[in-house]
Amino acid sequence: MFSGQLYNVVVIESLGKEGVGWPAVWGKRRERGVRMTDRAQATEDGRATKAETLAVTDNRTGESYDIEITEGTVRAMDFRQIKVDEDDFGLMTYDPGLSNTAHCRSSICYIDGEQGILEYRGIPIEQLCERSNYLEVAYLLIYGHLPNEDEYNNWVYQVTHHTFVHENIKNFMEGFRHDADPMGMLLASVGALSTFYPESKDVNDEWQRWVSTVRLIAKMPTLAAFAYRHSLGLPYIYPDNDLSYAGNFLNMLFKIAETKYEPDPRLERALDVLFILHADHEQNCSTAAVRTVGSALPDPYTSIAGGVAGLYGPLHGGANIAVVRMLERIGSTDNVPDFLEDVKEGNERIMGFGHRVYKNYDPRAKIIQSHIEEVLEATGKQNPLLDIARELEKRALDDEYFTSRALYPNVDFYSGVIYEALNIPTDMFTVMFAVPRTSGWVAQWMEWINDEERKLVRPR
Ligand code: ACO
Repeated sequence: MFSGQLYNVVVIESLGKEGVGWPAVWGKRRERGVRMTDRAQATEDGRATKAETLAVTDNRTGESYDIEITEGTVRAMDFRQIKVDEDDFGLMTYDPGLSNTAHCRSSICYIDGEQGILEYRGIPIEQLCERSNYLEVAYLLIYGHLPNEDEYNNWVYQVTHHTFVHENIKNFMEGFRHDADPMGMLLASVGALSTFYPESKDVNDEWQRWVSTVRLIAKMPTLAAFAYRHSLGLPYIYPDNDLSYAGNFLNMLFKIAETKYEPDPRLERALDVLFILHADHEQNCSTAAVRTVGSALPDPYTSIAGGVAGLYGPLHGGANIAVVRMLERIGSTDNVPDFLEDVKEGNERIMGFGHRVYKNYDPRAKIIQSHIEEVLEATGKQNPLLDIARELEKRALDDEYFTSRALYPNVDFYSGVIYEALNIPTDMFTVMFAVPRTSGWVAQWMEWINDEERKLVRPR
């Protein structure tokens, strides 16, 4: 599965394309808020030219300002100089939901929503799903390049040998109500890791950052599986270090009485691909939460718990549950035309369709689809929801109402169906998202900690 040498070429080529790294101009550009007359001269030393500025006239005062534009953005603080008089605090920008505010510079993930492109560190998601595995991708996200053979072997060894959790964690998880939501249990137990590793509070210590990274990626499946087993009243299963990351997770979820659990390689591979697809997706709600909490410099377990909390919400991590409920409600392929009419009349939405960023087929949905048959073959089940989903997709993509609004299946349209096929109950779906997203959260946290422009997030 290891493929580092091949990929390193791609990564290096992509650096220039995506503007990865810190362009020289970015380092020396912080002469803020210069008025128009001054700015006109400021063109020879690498700072903005006139064409790279935004002219703003304040009609209250008649004053004009020249705001610097870099990489398609202006700095909100540049507007503070715009005042009606000396006592005025200065102009602010207002952006609830941060829909049009860049929160950071990041070179981890790239999305082109119009073209339906998703890349991790410059490598297309399709290539990663075909040639790589989740742990290699996690390394790529965190360290910015694919591992060479030694790096890969060491990484896998370290993650594999940190999968066990302290027995006290197991004991306190046993204290949850018998029907506790597994996502709530995951949230609490990730936060609790902080108390087991107090030395991790030193986020400036490189070694502490490294070992916390390994622990988080290694222990997340263990906590997730314990939460699942708890909800069923089944004994918790300890990790099996002979198995792959995905194989061990299946072992901790599903082992019953067999001496040695042997995962079906088709299910193991499908789960690994799902993990790759969910590993990162740039500045979404939970990732922004990780960065926001992280800006106060708590230990990384606490920051990642912030991400789990964001993902817990139905508007973010819970959409695939809504898809399954919708498909169950439609009930049969015969009912699809009536359902679509209802949608077109504005009475409801197709869950798992449409995306704020993708205005084309979500590349992740395509990849998931290609693994569904294999999973069904391995489990020997037929999933009637899949037929309904396919009929719904076919008819919607033939219908001008949906095509004219650029509504295509997103990742959640098929992920719920494949989780069902893997025998994962619906209240575990968000947990199944949180496990692989941990590598993305950690990568984003690490990038933020090392960002020379990092400061405490404190909005107005
Ligand atoms: N079904 C039917 N019509 C839709 C859908 C949908 N799923 N999504 C958008 N539309 C229509 C809207 O009614 C609107 O039509 P109009 O112009 O006639 O009023 C038009 O498309 C634009 O809709 P917006 O809500 O403005 O689009 P936006 O980009 O803000 O919405 C969103 C994105 C929230 C994801 C939306 O498509 C949606 O609700 N989808 C269903 C829920 C879902 O699948 N969420 C998961 C997203 S992926 C993720 O978070 C991991």
